[in-house]
Amino acid sequence: MLRLDGKTALVTGASQGIGEAIARLLGRQGARVVLAARNEEKLKRLAAEIDAGGGCARPLVLDVTQPETFGERLKSLPEDYGAVDVLVNNAGITADNLLARMSLDDWERVLRTNLTGAFALTKEVVRGMIKRRWGRVISVSSVVGMMGNAGQANYAAAKAGLIGFSKSLARELGSRSVTVNVVAPGYIQTAMTDRLPEAAREELTAAIALKRLGTVDDVAWAVLFLASEEAGYVTGTTLNVSGGLYI
Ligand code: NAI
Repeated sequence: MLRLDGKTALVTGASQGIGEAIARLLGRQGARVVLAARNEEKLKRLAAEIDAGGGCARPLVLDVTQPETFGERLKSLPEDYGAVDVLVNNAGITADNLLARMSLDDWERVLRTNLTGAFALTKEVVRGMIKRRWGRVISVSSVVGMMGNAGQANYAAAKAGLIGFSKSLARELGSRSVTVNVVAPGYIQTAMTDRLPEAAREELTAAIALKRLGTVDDVAWAVLFLASEEAGYVTGTTLNVSGGLYI
């Protein structure tokens, strides 16, 4: 169940956190994994670990804000990695501030990485999926894109944008057996949330129905499902992985 043997999966922002967990799990399930991010050293280390565990992974230095480099970067992959069957748009940044203090640069940087990056890479990769009449596009949004969050107007706009983008693409590509879905995590335990003061963590946890933060693996399992053959009749949906923070 949920095997990805013979498939190639490209995960952006794979160097750490949620992207790393997704890459490791897809690799464990048999996919050849392309680890895309900007930090080559981290990617090489992770690729070596996945290979040592019996998987197959290759690092790909890629900045999602530089679409003009995508074609050439993808061509640099070995041939058996070149045909991407599963694309996971996970790379993302925050630049939080209340609207009154949010600069146009903060707005544009977050939109460019979190939304335009996904648009541009999907456009590049989906051509092959259409030709082969099989594909999975999965974007990592956030429940903030559905709920809103004070201080994150830029981030919430980008994350909500991913949902609208994916619904539209699901309609465009359904006839080619390419599914397009979104995973919307809630509060996930990462280096970022580890730094929160205890009181803030307790307050956060109280708002979650399951009374715990999520793990990176909670998100990775949801992505694996949407990437699988078994999810072939699921498209245009947003899978909320928030432990009931947002219902
Ligand atoms: P993180 O900051 O640990 O990792 C983000 C990854 O994106 C890193 O690998 C980074 O190198 C990469 N990245 C950033 N800008 C890039 C660019 N221009 N080109 C290529 N790669 C780039 O973040 P985390 O927590 O693992 O988040 C991953 C995704 O999950 C993000 O899209 C984030 O918005 C989303 N998310 C995270 C939540 C959390 O609680 N951590 C909650 C909801 C959504």
